[in-house]
Amino acid sequence: MYILANWKNSLSSKDSKRLAEALHTRISGKYSDIDIVLFPDDISIETVSLMFDSASMVRVGAQDGPLGPKTTLTGSISLSNFGKFCDYVLLGHSERRMLLGETDEMIAQKAALAIDVGVIPVICVNKGDGTKIDPHFGLKAQLESILDHIDSKSKFVIAYEPIDAIGTGIPADPEEVKNIAGIIHETIFISRNVKSSPYIPVLYGGSVNDKNIKSFLSLEGIDGVLVGSASLTADSFLRIIKKVSDPKHYK
Ligand code: 13P
Repeated sequence: MYILANWKNSLSSKDSKRLAEALHTRISGKYSDIDIVLFPDDISIETVSLMFDSASMVRVGAQDGPLGPKTTLTGSISLSNFGKFCDYVLLGHSERRMLLGETDEMIAQKAALAIDVGVIPVICVNKGDGTKIDPHFGLKAQLESILDHIDSKSKFVIAYEPIDAIGTGIPADPEEVKNIAGIIHETIFISRNVKSSPYIPVLYGGSVNDKNIKSFLSLEGIDGVLVGSASLTADSFLRIIKKVSDPKHYK
C-alpha cells in the first residue's frame, strides 16, 4: 500500500522541517509494509530528504519535475537537484493543469525525463470530459498520452484525483473510485501488454482522512492514497498510517 503526502505549498520551511522531524521520530524504520512518500515544497526538499536515509523506509518526492534536460526554466527545479533529492515526483496535479495550463504532452515529457534519471513519476489524472459514446474519453486520453511516451518496462504510479473531491472535505464515492480504477488498469493493460511490464499501482486522492480511509483501502484496484490536508500534521497523518497498517481495515 502507498500513502503519499502532498504538502502542496501549505507549510513554511520551518513547519516542513518540524513536521518531517516529528514523522522521522514516529515512523522511521516502522511500517515496512507501506510505501510512505512525502512531497514537501521545493524549498524544503533538501532538508526533508536528508533527514530520511534509505533505512528510514520513508521516501521523498518533488511536487513537479523539470521539462527537459537542458531547459532553462525559471521556477522549475534543476535536473541535478531533482535526481539527487527525489525518489518520486508528482506530475499533472489538476491544480497545475487548471491554473498553469499544463498539457498531457508536457506531463508525459516530464514523466519520461524523471524515469531517465531514476525518479518514479506519480501521474495525477482526473475524470476529464466524456463523450456520448465514451463517458471516460477524457480520463483515457490523459492516460494514453502518458503511455505513448513511456517505455512499457518503466515503473510509474497513477493517482486518480477527481477535481470536485480535492480540498472540499467531500471524497468521491468509493463505488465510482473502484469503477475508475478498473478502467485505469484496463487502459494500461491494453496499451502495454508485454510480459516485462511492471505492475502500475493506482491510488485515490481527494479529501482522504483517517475517518474515510477505510472505505478506499479495501477497494479492488486501489493500491493506496494521495493525501493533502490530512497529511499536514504528524498526528493526523499518523492516524492514517496506523489504519493502513492494520489488516482489520481491509474488510
Ligand atoms: P486534499 O486531501 O486536501 O483534498 O488534497 C488532495 C490532493 O490534492 C492531493 O494531491
